[in-house]
Amino acid sequence: MSLADRTFVHPFGSLQLRRWPRLSDDPLRGWDGADRYLLEVLAEELPQVAPLLVLNDQSGALTLALVNAADVDAGPANQLGCQVYASGDSFVAYAALLANAKDNGIEPKRLSWSWADQPLPGGAKAVLLRVPKELSLLEWQLAALSQALPAGVPLLIAGMDKHLPRNLVEVLGRYLDAPSAGLGRHKSRIFRARIAAQEKAPPPPSWLTLPEQGWQLRVDAGVFSRQQLDIGARFFLEHIPQGIDGDICDLGCGNGVIGMMALQQNPSARLYCCDESALALASTRDNIARTFPDRLVQFHLGNGLDGLDQQFDLVLLNPPFHRGHALDDSVARMLFRHARRHLKPGGVVRVIGNSHLGYGALLKDQFGKVSQVARNAKFIIYDAGL
Ligand SMILES: C[S@@+](CC[C@H](N)C(=O)[O-])C[C@H]1O[C@@H](n2cnc3c(N)ncnc32)[C@H](O)[C@@H]1O
Repeated sequence: MSLADRTFVHPFGSLQLRRWPRLSDDPLRGWDGADRYLLEVLAEELPQVAPLLVLNDQSGALTLALVNAADVDAGPANQLGCQVYASGDSFVAYAALLANAKDNGIEPKRLSWSWADQPLPGGAKAVLLRVPKELSLLEWQLAALSQALPAGVPLLIAGMDKHLPRNLVEVLGRYLDAPSAGLGRHKSRIFRARIAAQEKAPPPPSWLTLPEQGWQLRVDAGVFSRQQLDIGARFFLEHIPQGIDGDICDLGCGNGVIGMMALQQNPSARLYCCDESALALASTRDNIARTFPDRLVQFHLGNGLDGLDQQFDLVLLNPPFHRGHALDDSVARMLFRHARRHLKPGGVVRVIGNSHLGYGALLKDQFGKVSQVARNAKFIIYDAGL
């Protein structure tokens, strides 16, 4: 596989961009055709509009192009003269934005960021929005936009053709005025719309019931397994170790259900819930606060265990097997690496995966001891230690 091109040429200049986490042999670029198309249409149709709000920028291509554009002395970029606000749910996207800002000589204080579980800033005169993978997150963000911005503010919405849902115009029409699909360019498509006169209510969170435990789980927009408890998680719940009175980590906690079972099975353990999604952590916080109000639990928004000093007796992991829209085990391998570095002597990482994913071999690459704890027709649960 060839190395990704790092130079993003756009209507306001060029940027050096890489994805996060940084891999020396990353074959994928830090931008795509939809980023380029959005900036082209902005330059053609709304060159004088500022400030701008960018949602779901993947590695900073949109935000950094616009921040830089505000500095240029001539051409359409000069007229932007804007402050750029950015918002999203993904810590990994935020880390990519910060790292790429540094590489392009842009100081962090010039970036204004808010997480998807926080209110959006007011004041933007136009919005650039990348359609997220989860439609529920899109709906959540459209409702938040209708609450933050006045009627008539234009939105440019884009995604790669292969990732766009068929009913996008219909979804946009529930939250925005005059949604319309534009022409395709760079294998991507633009949609135009305006903020509606009436504020729209956000879609309610999903609620999952676990009757055996008597638990009600809140699952916010965009969070893993909103319609029903994931069948892998259900099997994992039957195999959570007992008898631990030290530190347990729920790595990639989603709605927090795995960590909650660890709390139930281990009454004197301390729990750390970690995810890269702000809305996942918001769901987990709420679920734990209602179900285990007296337990000692910490929450970490980050890429895996980056930035945490804590060592663990047990790490529980149901890893993602996608990166964005693509099937990819690089995140699982990275999370195995993080777990290994954060194990106490004698500590264990318990991992569940679809049997066809071959996690056993990946774990053997990194751990001295790997054993199978349980399996059913679809899933295998492993223990790995040093
Ligand atoms: C398969 S889901 C498992 C969720 C939950 N533990 C369960 O079993 O229902 C994987 C979780 O990993 C999170 N995740 C993905 N990449 C991550 C990363 N780099 N660092 C931390 N968490 C990540 C996702 O947001 C998602 O919540």
